[in-house]
Amino acid sequence: MRNTQLLKNTIAQIFANGKGILAMDESTPTIDKRFSANGIPQTLEMRHAYRELIATTPGLNESIGGAILYDETIRQKTSNGDLITTVLKNAGIIPGIKVDMGAKALAGFPDEKITEGLDGLRERLADYKTLGTLFAKWRAVITIGDGIPTKACIDANAHALARYAALCQEAGLVPIVEPEVLIDGNHSIQRCYDVTEQALKALFDQLYYFRVDLQGIILKPNMVLAGKDSGEKNSIDDIAKATVNCFLSSVPAAVPAIAFLSGGQSPQQASQHLNAINKEYKERLPWIVAFSFARAIQQPCLEAWKGQDANVEKAQHLLYHRAKLSAAARRGDYKSAMEDHG
Ligand code: G3H
Repeated sequence: MRNTQLLKNTIAQIFANGKGILAMDESTPTIDKRFSANGIPQTLEMRHAYRELIATTPGLNESIGGAILYDETIRQKTSNGDLITTVLKNAGIIPGIKVDMGAKALAGFPDEKITEGLDGLRERLADYKTLGTLFAKWRAVITIGDGIPTKACIDANAHALARYAALCQEAGLVPIVEPEVLIDGNHSIQRCYDVTEQALKALFDQLYYFRVDLQGIILKPNMVLAGKDSGEKNSIDDIAKATVNCFLSSVPAAVPAIAFLSGGQSPQQASQHLNAINKEYKERLPWIVAFSFARAIQQPCLEAWKGQDANVEKAQHLLYHRAKLSAAARRGDYKSAMEDHG
């Protein structure tokens, strides 16, 4: 039996007082790639130290109401002997968990991916619930290119997202439903708009078929942007407008919250775009429009840390600052002058 009130309470708590979500759930290959780019050894110890650095950042709870963890982190303890989940909870930050098993090649569809992880998911969710998580994440990946995405790829991913979301709600966990249309490629902003709209419409069809309660989900989408190799330049206002129009045409008002991923935008761009959406359009939007950033919050912190204890304080300050700016953008209060105080 689904406990809708519990789901609604979790969502309300995550986004209370203008807060958003910090995604710190990079899979091991992904975080290792980011470590490697910053000259940080790719070891279990370093990943552990980094996640501890994040979770113990003073004041993080002023801007962050929920943090998504990776399975490796969920049972780890800080050097004080406290579980990382306990540190977060004590700060009023709700722990969540990435539960998909990654995007794998979709057989018969070159360059397209299907996210796996439904087998045994009910049991894994029950386990994660006992470990104190109250929400989960599943990321589907849609690539734009010549002749792609196909309808088969969009539908297969929407189907998996809906089955995942139904299992989460059954378990009392809020599903973050993430259909990410990648920024990679040379497509125009209009093409991103069209594909994002198609992916969202397919997703909400499937959520309906699988009896997912829309009031008990968080949608985590991409913003509507031209491909990073397109050379197309769009103003902040154009991006905000395209994003708002795309979501108004495809996301039901019953959805309580949209929490954007940053998807390869710089931290500053992600803040500017989120800010413009909230500043210019808030009155017209039926949902909370917030953030669930990984790179756009963590990047300066990771670059400053470099894997060295001596840099922890500076790195934590940068994380705190970037989270603050993201929360300001959620309120529509972000100003570029705030960038100087990091
Ligand atoms: O699933 C995607 C991540 O949680 C968001 O990461 O903000 O770096 O795109 P990003």
